[in-house]
Amino acid sequence: MGARPPGMPLVAANWKMNPTNIDDALDLVRGVMSVARGQADKVDVAIFPPFPYLVPVSDLMVESGVKLGAQDTFWEMSGAYTGEVSPAMLKPLCQWVIVGHSERRLHLGETDEMVAKKTAAVLSCEMSVIMCVGELIDHYDAGTSDTIVSSQVKAGLASCSADDSARLVIAYEPVWAIGTGRSADPEHAYKTLRLIRKIVGEMIGAGAARKVRILYGGSVKADNVQEYVELPLCDGVLVGGASLDAEEFAHIVKVTAEVYGHR
Ligand code: PGA
Repeated sequence: MGARPPGMPLVAANWKMNPTNIDDALDLVRGVMSVARGQADKVDVAIFPPFPYLVPVSDLMVESGVKLGAQDTFWEMSGAYTGEVSPAMLKPLCQWVIVGHSERRLHLGETDEMVAKKTAAVLSCEMSVIMCVGELIDHYDAGTSDTIVSSQVKAGLASCSADDSARLVIAYEPVWAIGTGRSADPEHAYKTLRLIRKIVGEMIGAGAARKVRILYGGSVKADNVQEYVELPLCDGVLVGGASLDAEEFAHIVKVTAEVYGHR
């Protein structure tokens, strides 16, 4: 269970509700494409812009090798769900969806059950999913991180099977490290990534679990990315704030490619 999955590492850019205009978004995409071009055989790069930018970004990125994803989706494919967007609608535009981000759990009241339904819906459309898990600062301080993360993983993957493994990514993002500048110490990150891999193995089988990529996220920056991607069980990073600066993001992609190139 110690080995890294056979797939390439993944560097995923979660833009959240940024940038606030399409021109800046397209400039950022151009920057990302120029970085990713030289690294396409070493690292998967995926960007997750806000919904209104998906169409123009997808047009601009044709044949760039950069993957495109949405930051959320609903679990039904169509119907009377005002304001929602289904995986079936996203599929022609993008290959990936993030579900269960802690900001959605916190501000929108998303539960483990909703996250599980979204995960299953994305996979049923043969798209790839990044399911986010992570403990709050109170859990961390109380030493209950493992219990919380375990229950989130078990609930979120409730209806997943070995067949989903190559399209399944789990991002461990301690909530207290997101957007705070306070990143988790690599030892804590390592222990949690190992726990997640073990649980996934119990749920879908150890062989299939090796294909599931497990990322670290939370205040990843150019100057600390190496500490995380060097962890033996880390298959890449989910980057928020630092992904909005093309130069800083370029550095994160290059460091990841270098570290994995030496494994
Ligand atoms: P951050 O965000 O890198 O700004 O901490 C990470 C995330 O929320 O995915």
